[in-house]
Amino acid sequence: MNVILLGAPGAGKGTQATRLAEKYSIPHISTGDIFRENIKKQTPIGVVAKSYIDKGQLVPDEVTVEIVKQRLSQDDCKNGYLLDGFPRNLFQAEELDKFSTVEKVVNIDVDLTKLLKRITGRRVCPCGESYHVDFLNGKTTCAKCGAELYQRADDNEETVASRLSVYKNQTAPLIDYYEKAGKLLVIDGDKTIDEVFSEIVSKLG
Ligand code: AP5
Ligand code: MG
Ligand code: ZN
Repeated sequence: MNVILLGAPGAGKGTQATRLAEKYSIPHISTGDIFRENIKKQTPIGVVAKSYIDKGQLVPDEVTVEIVKQRLSQDDCKNGYLLDGFPRNLFQAEELDKFSTVEKVVNIDVDLTKLLKRITGRRVCPCGESYHVDFLNGKTTCAKCGAELYQRADDNEETVASRLSVYKNQTAPLIDYYEKAGKLLVIDGDKTIDEVFSEIVSKLG
């Protein structure tokens, strides 16, 4: 099962991907997570990526496409994968079609006006889990692993504005691209995390 999770920043891609990867035993591949890992380790890719991510712009295609191409060629992707945050523009989608066959594209649809609150209130754990301050009841550690939660460097109002405009101009056209390919599943992302998860599972079959 080769699946893409499509959706605006803050739509819930990462939240759902963690759960889906567990349910279907397939790897969750997030280009954002890969870049953040590289930034932390101060690799050459990390240095390049940071300069774009801090501004809310896309990391250049030649860097991003190569990373995904290599990642999907690894053994654990043989029975399927969940791509989160890739592709993000038409060029990346067309490149992906050259080296892998996507079966389903899950578009998590959330009213764009609600995203700023979701993103600025997000707290993340190094283990991959993410939370929202509204539901943490003042807790500052991860319910899954106990580690201290932190805020992503790009989760500030200024960067979010630029991420949303990149989404509208470059990523949203992919909805049409995959609709025409007959691969699109539209999910109402304005429901609770559990409800969104159930809807995805029932539509994926
Ligand atoms: P990336 O890490 O992919 O960030 P993003 O697309 O902006 O998406 P987010 O991670 O912010 O949102 P999400 O949909 O995962 O939401 P989450 O589940 O956490 O990319 C970061 C940067 O890396 C990019 O800006 C770019 O620079 C670069 N990059 C990455 N991929 C690239 C590519 N392919 N090409 C070029 N550059 C690339 O949820 C958000 C919050 O909402 C959380 O607090 C969560 O608890 C809460 N929440 C989730 N679901 C619900 C719900 N149903 N109800 C209420 N709250 C909810
Ligand atoms: Mg994410
Ligand atoms: Zn954790």
